[in-house]
Amino acid sequence: MKNTMTMTDNRTGKSYEFEIKDATRGPSVVDIGTFYAQTGMFTYDNGFTATASCTSSITFIDGAKGELRYRGIKIEELATKRSYLETCYLLLNSRFPTKKELLEFDLELRHRSLLHENLKNLFATFPTGAHPMAALSSATAALSSFYYAHLNIADESGYQEMARRIIAKMPTIAAFAYRHSIGAPFIQPDIERSFSENFLYMMRAYPGGKMHIGIDGEQKIKAIEIKALDTIFTLHADHEQNASTTTVRGVASTGAHPYVAISAGISALWGRAHGGANESVIKQLEMIGSVERVDEFIARAKDPEDDFRLMGFGHRVYKNFDPRAKILKSLQDELKDTLQLDSNLMKIANKIEEIALSDEYFISRKLYPNIDFYSGVILTALQIPKSMFTPIFVIGRTAGWITQWIEFKKDKTSKIARPRQLYLGK
Ligand code: CMC
Repeated sequence: MKNTMTMTDNRTGKSYEFEIKDATRGPSVVDIGTFYAQTGMFTYDNGFTATASCTSSITFIDGAKGELRYRGIKIEELATKRSYLETCYLLLNSRFPTKKELLEFDLELRHRSLLHENLKNLFATFPTGAHPMAALSSATAALSSFYYAHLNIADESGYQEMARRIIAKMPTIAAFAYRHSIGAPFIQPDIERSFSENFLYMMRAYPGGKMHIGIDGEQKIKAIEIKALDTIFTLHADHEQNASTTTVRGVASTGAHPYVAISAGISALWGRAHGGANESVIKQLEMIGSVERVDEFIARAKDPEDDFRLMGFGHRVYKNFDPRAKILKSLQDELKDTLQLDSNLMKIANKIEEIALSDEYFISRKLYPNIDFYSGVILTALQIPKSMFTPIFVIGRTAGWITQWIEFKKDKTSKIARPRQLYLGK
């Protein structure tokens, strides 16, 4: 048996043979790299619904089963038994760290979390009230100019150092972007705090490092809040060849600096069809306002004449359920008693979920709640403002983007991304 596929042009009867490449998990691919040379035609796949753009051994998704793995490890195990930093280490090194390696990794990230003083000036150019995503994308691109001379992309240790640096600095950049957006002074990272705790600290602290003081004394960051945020970072750490990762790889393919590629990924993530959905979900729940109005908005979502969509529903790849959403739903239940989850928003969200899961429109199109449907309610309980939901997605996803960037660079068969088109103009 030959591992090939034969395609016939029914206009001429001519047949063409293409190699099938087998995957270790999931669908195999037909290698159509010689399609144009053989047939004189291009292939057409609007929105890449059936096209693999690279080979990868980082993340695997089985959309029909609702399965997600990083480096072969199931997301459920990572979210419940491992920390975000262990997950970052796994993505970068294809294995978990030893205790000592984890300690060294953690300490290095703490040391690298500071930003160059000159970079701080960049935030001042944004108007107060500017969306933090704009500052985040700009500051990440600007970071490339601070670390240009040190870049040795011919050497693995150079790549890995670039990776640890950007993972360490992203929470600081995001927190600074937020503080500037509300006209508050920057809070420097605290070397004594862990990755996820530090981010909450930089968001919340008063100058001098004190947290909010109430009549019962200083309100410390709760362990359950740190755990919840850490889980959210882990769930967002990578997601195969999605729109923003494809953007990162596309920029990488031109030979540009990795931080510029990540800046482009941040911009791609911002849209509400992608990472911007988490902010849109809460805005939508607030707009609906009460359980009584849910039916009206479900009807709008189903109306082909109305471009209203239920935010936090549907996914290009998951056609059963999004495993990340399932984990967040149980985290939401776990937090209900300890943190103040907005009960009105939850009631509206529960009602939408209940109706959508039993409605023919959503069932037939396999539209299930995705990760963004649940993350907003949890982030609101962590006192994170809506404008910071997508920056939090960015912090988590930075590990995935830089790992994908490294994989692209190490792949000797990588080429510049240059799709073709079906021309219909004059
Ligand atoms: N509400 C109502 N109808 C929907 C929705 C929705 N959220 N999503 C898809 N549909 C319908 C769509 O109208 C179409 O119907 P028809 O076949 O009658 O024309 C059908 O379902 C297929 O939609 P599609 O746009 O072809 O699907 P896609 O795979 O290209 O898009 C999506 C996937 C995520 C962009 C889309 O489902 C969507 O816009 N969802 C809302 C935004 C959202 O929650 N995004 C976060 C995704 S998860 C986080 C991440 O990884 O980025």
